[in-house]
Amino acid sequence: MINDLWYKNAVIYCLSVGSFQDTDGDGVGDFQGLMRRMDYLGGLGVTAIWLMPFQTSPGRDDGYDVSDYYNVDPRYGSLGDFVEFTHAAKQRGIRVLIDLVVNHTSSEHAWFKSARSDPDSRYRDWYIWSEKKPANANKGMVFPGVQKSTWTYDEKAAAYYFHRFYDFQPDLNTANPLVQAEILKIMGFWIQLGVSGFRMDAVPFVIAEKGAEVTKPSEQYGMLRRFREFLQWRKGDAIILAEANVLPETDFEYFGDDGDRMHMMFNFQVNQSMFYALASADARPLVKAIEKTSVRPATAQWGMFLRNHDELDLGRLPETHRQTVFDAFGPDKDMQLYDRGIRRRLAPMLDGDPRRIRQAYSLMFSLPGTPVIRYGDEIAMGDDLSLPERNCARTPMQWSVEPQAGFTKSSKPELPVIVDGPYGYHHVNVADQRRDADSMLNWLERLIRMRKEAPEIGWGDCISLDTGDPGILALRYDWRNNSVLVVHNLHPKPVEFELQLDGEGTGGNRLIDIMDGGNSEADDKGRHTLLLDAYGYRWYRLGGLDYLLRRSEV
Ligand code: GLC
Repeated sequence: MINDLWYKNAVIYCLSVGSFQDTDGDGVGDFQGLMRRMDYLGGLGVTAIWLMPFQTSPGRDDGYDVSDYYNVDPRYGSLGDFVEFTHAAKQRGIRVLIDLVVNHTSSEHAWFKSARSDPDSRYRDWYIWSEKKPANANKGMVFPGVQKSTWTYDEKAAAYYFHRFYDFQPDLNTANPLVQAEILKIMGFWIQLGVSGFRMDAVPFVIAEKGAEVTKPSEQYGMLRRFREFLQWRKGDAIILAEANVLPETDFEYFGDDGDRMHMMFNFQVNQSMFYALASADARPLVKAIEKTSVRPATAQWGMFLRNHDELDLGRLPETHRQTVFDAFGPDKDMQLYDRGIRRRLAPMLDGDPRRIRQAYSLMFSLPGTPVIRYGDEIAMGDDLSLPERNCARTPMQWSVEPQAGFTKSSKPELPVIVDGPYGYHHVNVADQRRDADSMLNWLERLIRMRKEAPEIGWGDCISLDTGDPGILALRYDWRNNSVLVVHNLHPKPVEFELQLDGEGTGGNRLIDIMDGGNSEADDKGRHTLLLDAYGYRWYRLGGLDYLLRRSEV
């Protein structure tokens, strides 16, 4: 069983084909390029890749506006290239997850074009219409400040259409059984081409009741079960990873009480409190968020992450905590976005301080779930705040000191490569870091190896231990007679503290440091005295290193 539920302990790497590696010199990355970098990803140790949307699209929201679900955008290659890629991934034991963007289509999609031009079109009811301007037209925008409303008048249709996101992303009428059938068909198509599942975009909106009269939309959770059932019929070990930034009270609605809905969800609650912990050296809200969310169906899993392709959304934090994070990591207006988040990459948020960047990654990897890494973060890439909105953190991967960071032969990549300043590609690139034993890249590779050898984190019960200091976080995992303890010092100064390891599990008297040297023996009262550097962290195995022998497989 533990080998079947591969996603419980995966290491997921997300990337956008267009920013990774260009081979044909048009300034846009492509599948051929991605294939050339597969051994890089294999070497890093990732076990799954999540691809941002690559289907045919006018590209007005970086591909989250799909105009043909059954094709690869020609800029990235062909369907043939895609299948070569999934094959290349499989040969290296890497699974492929792809974005499934079905809350809305592009306004350029043939379905929408047909729907708007003819009231009798068979696609009319695939979208949400209203003859009159709905009373709530100026409410519920996802991109406030950029998006003006959620209902836009279409001359051709002589009606308003609903769009939760930008006006060029009309919402699909997901309650329509024909639309649901099409969503299953899309999933079936890509499964056939070799993917292991989907990152489902904007799930709360997909399942929300939609319409001009709807003031408090209820969720149609049953839909999630239907998606799941279909997927499992087609491929037993395929999964759905839901993008659902919801309150912990509804987590079980998404996972299903018996784990029969979404396999995975991103843990936004923990993500936001983690940034608060890093900003304030107070881990208490993070512990609360972990406690509120760590109970989940045995087969379900959290996706843990630091940054992703969107802004760091702080909308779930209390006002004062949000301000603390803004002050620490995004004090200037142009670092912030949509009044709720920070659009920077991780490294510049942490002042490029390797101790803090590594600590943040160590922390994220030690939280109860499966780590999701963003391309470029493994070499601590920076951002380009002169680019609009979220594009600042989507610049091309920096491979080497060759022109355009080795990303493209074109002198004009679609999004510019970062050249100037401390994050320019002359200072931050893969080739240099490969050769440097102490680089972020080599460090992360070690962290990945260590995380893979600590399956307790994905499977086990997580408890937070009392360290007597809110700036020292100690998490202990117990699973099948094995235990792991991970400690983090959020303070900018070294701290010595005492830790009592009671409870079940073996060998609490002896802590073996599994990342660096420095074991600890308890005193005769069972207490450990541990010293952590400024922003330090340590990963221990309790008892001894023979955990493989103690592990009982089923
Ligand atoms: C999700 C994506 C975001 C996109 C939006 C609309 O939130 O993460 O990038 O703009 O959906 O599809």
